Amino acid sequence: MAHTIVLTNQKGGVGKTTTSAALAAGLARRGYKVLAVDMDPQGNLGFSLGVDIDKGPTIYEGLKGDATVYEIIHRISDIDIIQSNILLSSAEATLRTDNRELLLKKLLEPVERLYDYIIIDTPPAFNILTLNGYSAANYLVIPMSAEILSLVGLVQLKETYETVRQSVNPNLKIMGIILTKYEKRRKLSRDVLEMAGTVAGQLNTSVFSAVIRSGVAAAEAPAHGMNIFEYSPRSAPAKDYGAFIDEILLMVKEDEENGKKDE
Ligand SMILES: Nc1ncnc2c1ncn2[C@@H]1O[C@H](COP(=O)(O)OP(=O)(O)O)[C@@H](O)[C@H]1O
Ligand SMILES: [Mg+2]
Repeated sequence: MAHTIVLTNQKGGVGKTTTSAALAAGLARRGYKVLAVDMDPQGNLGFSLGVDIDKGPTIYEGLKGDATVYEIIHRISDIDIIQSNILLSSAEATLRTDNRELLLKKLLEPVERLYDYIIIDTPPAFNILTLNGYSAANYLVIPMSAEILSLVGLVQLKETYETVRQSVNPNLKIMGIILTKYEKRRKLSRDVLEMAGTVAGQLNTSVFSAVIRSGVAAAEAPAHGMNIFEYSPRSAPAKDYGAFIDEILLMVKEDEENGKKDE
């Protein structure tokens, strides 16, 4: 059964998509079977991983029930991806069924057995798309940018997390906060790291030991349709994402050993 990890933060520009792409690509390089799912109408995850997001069926057709999950999976080298595009932005208005927060979970159910990890990128909002992500997930990871001292949405994140746990997904767990775009010499970065520690405490989680340093390679890779490990394996962000993935794998292993997940 796949472990499903959702990248979430209501603020835009904090590294959700960059981290989703690095996590999906890094796990695939280590031999895990990975499905990346883009729940953001901006379609950046598909683009980052080299998919032509204006061609072929998207997550939207899947959620609407117009296509099966098998029909919307695209294969890019060693990663499977379900892309999105701007049409998904009408989901809030058009997906009007009962239990509509469970559409993604139901859509992915038939393929859960085919993957080790499912990585889901979400939009910078708390809407039905994000709620679908939380409902389908085992784990949340919260990227926070060391460039922006901002607590926008974190109270709402906590409330949403608790609501989802109390209703449809009692096993949902926050893995931690991952600090992105970190610059050791900047006071702002150090201040944000400290703030991240406080926020993590309030969410009963912790800050990943790995912090993702700022580096042009992270910003450039998507434009070349390459992931960070292909584009610049020796760059600071590639090394840091490697350490981040080590921590993720360790947490999952510990949870498995503790029998948290009933397989
Ligand atoms: N470690 C990093 N170093 C430099 N730029 C980064 C890094 N991580 C992300 N970026 C850049 O920051 C911007 C926002 O990142 P993105 O992943 O798109 O955030 P979000 O998905 O939360 O909106 C993008 O232009 C991205 O290329
Ligand atoms: Mg994004």
